Formats: sequence, structure tokens, C-alpha cells
Amino acid sequence: MKKNIVNFKNNQSIEALDKLYNHNIELLPHFGNLGWNKHSLLCHNITSTSRILYLNELYKLIVNTPGVICEFGVQWGSTLTQLINLRSIHEPFNHSRTIYGFDTFEGFPSIHEKDGKGYEVGDLATLNNYEEKLNSILELIETFPPNPHIKKFELIKGNAINTIDNWLEANPHAIISLAIFDMDLYEPTKIVLSKIKSRLTKGSVIAFDELNCKTFPGETTALDEVFGLNCVKLYRSPLHPFCSWAIFGE
Ligand SMILES: C[S@@+](CC[C@H](N)C(=O)[O-])C[C@H]1O[C@@H](n2cnc3c(N)ncnc32)[C@H](O)[C@@H]1O
Repeated sequence: MKKNIVNFKNNQSIEALDKLYNHNIELLPHFGNLGWNKHSLLCHNITSTSRILYLNELYKLIVNTPGVICEFGVQWGSTLTQLINLRSIHEPFNHSRTIYGFDTFEGFPSIHEKDGKGYEVGDLATLNNYEEKLNSILELIETFPPNPHIKKFELIKGNAINTIDNWLEANPHAIISLAIFDMDLYEPTKIVLSKIKSRLTKGSVIAFDELNCKTFPGETTALDEVFGLNCVKLYRSPLHPFCSWAIFGE
């Protein structure tokens, strides 16, 4: 099993999560191939449900703003799946809302001195060639809404510090309506944030998964150095201690 680099849970919750995991593994084959997807919600705890509700709040903020969505830091891709589903729910006919996911898929590529302690290069790695598996899964997720024949997501593998330039050059049309920063680290957050700034429009949402987070100070420092904490109005989700966003131009 994967190492958990951050843990804010008490022993009782860890034990409960462990048991739910085992129940899930045991029951999944019994749910039936049509029902499993819905029935697997049985083992969702508050964290999973909060995550979906939070992403829904974020998504609703950008429905009237043109542009694509970029997630920096994808890992297994569960946020990408939810974003594709939310696009189908909130704007089923907007096939210009392409969703781009940037990740090394090999975990943290480096750690800067302005980052916190307790994690190391390679943490949060997925599996070898996981981007291929994730691509297949997301293609299936996209078969449900209207326009399933138009591919509306793309995975960009590599260090986002390097891949962002090519992406900007290859996508001169792309306004970024929603940028989700979840790389956890200072350096890539700062560099990518600086580079995408000119593609934001008034109303674009810049969201961070670890703002005001002692364990991962890098996202806060990056935001401060690029925009200045005094110059942005920040909002936070009541559903999560660190998930926060700014609306560009506000
Ligand atoms: C917390 S995980 C992302 C979780 C994901 N957003 C979700 O909701 O499931 C952080 C990810 O950032 C990625 N990452 C960190 N630094 C990166 C960089 N410089 N370039 C690309 N990906 C990076 C890691 O590989 C890791 O998969």
C-alpha cells in the first residue's frame, strides 16, 4: 500500500478507513457490473463527499466564464473524473471547456528549501505508465455526456515547470477559466502561476488545495511571490481546511 505523507486523522478514523477499504474490496465484485459505480458510494466517507461538493462549488463559479480548466497535480486523477462529470452536469454542450491535467505521474520531481519537511522526491508517484490507464478511464467517463465523440481532456506528462511552455505555445487560443493548483510544492506552483497569468481573464478562478497549510507552505509562498497576498481576495471552502481560491481581477 502507498505511504501516506500527510495525516490529520486520529487512530479511530484510520481504523475506520481501513475497515471501509476492506468492505469495499469485499463488496465490489458483488455490486454487479451496472450497479457497482453507484453502490461503491456506500463506502465514501465525509472526505470524499466533501471533495465532490467542493469541486461542484468551484465549477459553478466558472460556468459563465469562457476558457479551459487546468489541473496542476493530478496523481490518480479522481479530481479530473469529477471535473468531467461536473462539466456534463453544468454545461453539457460546452465542448470548448477542455480539461487539461498536468503531472509527472512519477511523484514529486524535486523539493525546494521553501517547502516543508516530511516528504521526499518520488512521493505521490502512481504506477509505471499510469497516464495510459488514466487516459482510458477518462475516455470512458467522457462517453456518458453529449458529444462523446469529441475528446475534451488531455493529460500532459512531465514536470509542469517544463511542460507548461509547450502547452501555452500549442494552445494559443486557451483562456484559463479555472486553474487548480495541487502540486503541493513551492517551485512548480510559482513558475506555472507566473506563466499562466497572461491567460487568465477577469473572473477566472485560481484554486489551491494547500493554502495556509503548515505542512505544505509552498503554495502560499508561491501565491504571495506572484500576486502578493495583500493584493488578492481569498475565499475558502467550509468543507476543507486548506482549499481556497481567488477570483482573478477581483
Ligand atoms: C496531491 S497530488 C494531486 C492530487 C490530485 N489533485 C487529486 O485531487 O487527486 C500532487 C501531485 O502533484 C504532482 N507534482 C508535484 N510537482 C509536480 C511538478 N513539478 N510537475 C508535475 N506534477 C507535479 C505529483 O506527482 C502528485 O501526483
